[in-house]
Amino acid sequence: MSLPIMRAFFRPKRISIAGFSWMSASSRDAYPIPTARRLSSASAVCSSLLLSRKLPDEAISATQQRFKEFDLQSKVFVVTGGARGLGLAMAEALVEAGGKVHCLDRLEAPDDEFDLAQSRACGDFGGSLHYSRMDVRDVESLNSTISRIAAEDSRLDGLIAAAGIQKIKPATEYTMDEINEVLAINYSGVFLMSGFVANKGLISPVYSSSKAAVIQLGRSLAMEWGKIEEDGSGGIRVNSLCPGHIETPMVKKNFEDDPALKETWLRENMLGRLSKPEEFRGAGLFLLSEASSFMTGATLVALVTGGGSGIGLMATQALAVNGAKVYIVGRTGEKLDNAVKAHGQNIAGEIIPMTADITSKSDIAKLVKEIESREKCLCILINNAGVSGNTLETEAKNAEEMKRNLFDAENSTFDDWCSTYRTNVPQLFFMTTAFLPLLQKSSEFHHGYSGTVINISSISGIVKSSQHHFGYNASKAASIQLTKLLASEVANNGLKVRINSIAPGVFPSEMTAGGSGEDQKSYIDKEKYQKLPARRPGKDQDMAGAVLFAAANQYLNGQTIAVDGGYLLHAGA
Ligand SMILES: NC(=O)c1ccc[n+]([C@@H]2O[C@H](COP(=O)([O-])OP(=O)(O)OC[C@H]3O[C@@H](n4cnc5c(N)ncnc54)[C@H](OP(=O)(O)O)[C@@H]3O)[C@@H](O)[C@H]2O)c1
Repeated sequence: MSLPIMRAFFRPKRISIAGFSWMSASSRDAYPIPTARRLSSASAVCSSLLLSRKLPDEAISATQQRFKEFDLQSKVFVVTGGARGLGLAMAEALVEAGGKVHCLDRLEAPDDEFDLAQSRACGDFGGSLHYSRMDVRDVESLNSTISRIAAEDSRLDGLIAAAGIQKIKPATEYTMDEINEVLAINYSGVFLMSGFVANKGLISPVYSSSKAAVIQLGRSLAMEWGKIEEDGSGGIRVNSLCPGHIETPMVKKNFEDDPALKETWLRENMLGRLSKPEEFRGAGLFLLSEASSFMTGATLVALVTGGGSGIGLMATQALAVNGAKVYIVGRTGEKLDNAVKAHGQNIAGEIIPMTADITSKSDIAKLVKEIESREKCLCILINNAGVSGNTLETEAKNAEEMKRNLFDAENSTFDDWCSTYRTNVPQLFFMTTAFLPLLQKSSEFHHGYSGTVINISSISGIVKSSQHHFGYNASKAASIQLTKLLASEVANNGLKVRINSIAPGVFPSEMTAGGSGEDQKSYIDKEKYQKLPARRPGKDQDMAGAVLFAAANQYLNGQTIAVDGGYLLHAGA
């Protein structure tokens, strides 16, 4: 983590490019291959009857806690050739693990087998099974179908390319068209069976060699896409599954045509039997779940409240351009979507919008659950969301006037104090404590790194002036004290989570500028800040540097860093 972070620290210009990037195999290549990208963990559901019989009954209600790495809740998958047979069997396993699975196939309507599988897809698992007609050779339709599916939930977590065909024929009898058809479907559909061995009795040389090509393709793409590059691209795992002697509808047809073939296969198999598609369910699930994550790299995960504008967006960009996956949280979905659109393209990390009101405990609990279902840990939590509250006239010539301004004024209310306090203070406490287990896990997954919380307080909590908003300034002072209290109690309990605060001076934001543009950026006039030692308001880069420093420095805990262009020097504390 420290290297990319330090790079951005010294290259603050990158801050202006930020963004969101999900990447499916289709965005790289029109022909999907078995692949899975960065996956997260949660609970898994044991669906195999055989296995569930081995497990103690009383633990059934606790299955949500078992095999967390296999859990696919909230994840989206595509299975080509998923209308029946092996593709469908593996799709069903993904559904049972909580995944939303789109089966794509050439058939006008899926097989009856598919309808049965769909009716079995139990709502309790949280997964679902869908069908779309598509030919894997039709690049345009493939791209639009995959894009539509990915756009539906703003994600695509993995792909099983199981589409394939076979032609039983000696090599000398193949026509060019037949060769091309087998290669086009199998090589592009890519799910393989006999690439390594010569299947005795299966006179299908083009089929077998097309599968060998697919194995090599899988290796080549794994090498090309697996590593996370400096620019953040990559991190896509590519694996091939080579099932053998499996009784799919395609193979059953072969046996009908040539009964001797079945006998040969039974004899050749060490177990003396053929396999069923269901026996590969676990293999598909393994490859697409966190259980096989050793094949991919790791990414820092961050959550920034109020990340759709102002200082929160600056922090988000700083982290995301350096490769972090940043969840931004706010009450207004449109604001978050705009931020992703404007700053979420072609960057190393990702920006993912999530609406929630962080003054509600149940919203916070839902957020934790959602992040938990997607990620194995949370590395950086930035509690930035805040509101300013009403302003009051403080200058007065006598006591009566001061009372009129501060007590009698219509906008001077307990409610204003309480709502400002509620957003600016207790949410830091509830967000931090709710996310503690996920933050603590960060050090387990990122050696040498401790999870960190950065509370965005303010110089308003330090200066002696009320700046016309007593409630806001008192709340920010409370947020600085709360940062210390939390840092100390968390450390006392031996947890590896550092908690600091950044106290910004004046930065352009919706709060200070009264609004923002289409790109969610705000502007304030430099001329108004000539009295500051810096003679200007803060810039994106100033905030980015502070956020990266606080996130990366492993020796910083319980502190408040003022990033204020000298405001405190000028205003006095
Ligand atoms: N800008 C400055 O000069 C300055 C100086 C010192 C400190 N600060 C602090 O910096 C932080 C960010 O403020 P900003 O200046 O960047 O203003 P901003 O642009 O108004 O950002 C505040 C963000 O918080 C979100 N938010 C507010 N209440 C929320 C809630 N209940 N739940 C979820 N999200 C909520 C808002 O989105 P929704 O309205 O869509 O929810 C908004 O995106 C605040 O804590 C502020 O006190 C700012």
